[in-house]
Amino acid sequence: MPAKIALPPPILVTFSITQQCNLKCKHCYSRSSAYPGLNELSTEEALQIISQVKKAGTKLIIFDGGEPTLRSDLLRLIKHAKDIGLIPVLGTNGTTLTRKLVKDLKNAGLKMCAVSLDGANAKTHDSFRCVNGCFDDAIRGIGYLRDEGIPFQVNPCIHKKNYHELSDLLNIARNMGAVGIEAFEFVKTGRGSYEYELDAQIRQQVVDEMLRLTSIDMPVRMIGVPQFDILLKKGGKSDNYHRSGSCCGAGNTIACIFNDGTVFPCMLLSKSAGNVREQSFEEIWNTSDVLNELRDRKNLKGTCGNCLMKDECGGARCRAFANDDILAGDSQCWIVQPE
Ligand SMILES: C[S@@+](CC[C@H](N)C(=O)[O-])C[C@H]1O[C@@H](n2cnc3c(N)ncnc32)[C@H](O)[C@@H]1O
Ligand code: SF4
Ligand code: SF4
Repeated sequence: MPAKIALPPPILVTFSITQQCNLKCKHCYSRSSAYPGLNELSTEEALQIISQVKKAGTKLIIFDGGEPTLRSDLLRLIKHAKDIGLIPVLGTNGTTLTRKLVKDLKNAGLKMCAVSLDGANAKTHDSFRCVNGCFDDAIRGIGYLRDEGIPFQVNPCIHKKNYHELSDLLNIARNMGAVGIEAFEFVKTGRGSYEYELDAQIRQQVVDEMLRLTSIDMPVRMIGVPQFDILLKKGGKSDNYHRSGSCCGAGNTIACIFNDGTVFPCMLLSKSAGNVREQSFEEIWNTSDVLNELRDRKNLKGTCGNCLMKDECGGARCRAFANDDILAGDSQCWIVQPE
């Protein structure tokens, strides 16, 4: 067995507790469908894994999926996380939230909820998520969260066909009382296809718009775009208010546990680092070759390998993996600074 190296624990762990979902989104990285995955963790296993995440030193656990609200033991898992001192957060499409469920989630100890909105209107959102009415259902769900006082943020996935709706989306989020907006850049993984991918020019436009939005009194963050954090820092906004974590967090500050126990460096980067059915989470975090490979920036290749900013940025490893090499350069980077 490889020797244990003492590493800081992940700041947060996402726990994809099921692959079952009531929507059929075109981009879904977990390829979720109407049915649970073939080999999903039992309640007892999931409870043990939550305890392992705590033991590893992590503070924040995000329950997502699939659609996590479709798992019948969700309240028990959240309560356990809270009871052992973790901060439980939920990532949901919002459509299945009822007033009763929201009250139950609050009583179980849920601290925060992220609701996905992939457009500023029903047409854009419903056509991407492939179920008519899901925009209105998500908005209704957000209303219950607001009424019951569970802080929520809005998480849009930004892609080629909706990026122009970003600022309207932000207005919706603010008007509904969101405590933040956290935009995922679309990554070509799972069911996602090239037609949604942003090129360098549009990425720059999107990031400029997001940077402009940081002047408002609400945290604005981006997932899958380490350049956003670099530019924030350059603009003197290096506090944790807007930052999504230091640079590409895959294997460095975050990890993902999938519904069959597989550990991934990030939910958008599905290269296995081990399985919690075979090793403890802490052992995987400390010894996995895949995670160690990501941690050493000297391993980076191409544009990222030759970039002056590789240590502070590192490039989005999920995008590289989408093109088959976890260490490849970001071919659509607009701020690269060759060494
Ligand atoms: C897989 S979903 C699970 C939680 C819940 N079902 C939902 O839709 O919010 C978690 C988040 O990942 C985002 N996501 C899914 N596939 C993605 C992709 N290929 N690129 C970027 N974000 C993606 C979704 O838009 C959502 O905000
Ligand atoms: S992104 Fe979320 S709502 Fe959409 S299919 Fe995947 S798990 Fe379901
Ligand atoms: S080229 Fe440089 S700035 Fe661009 S993603 Fe790679 S490390 Fe970051």
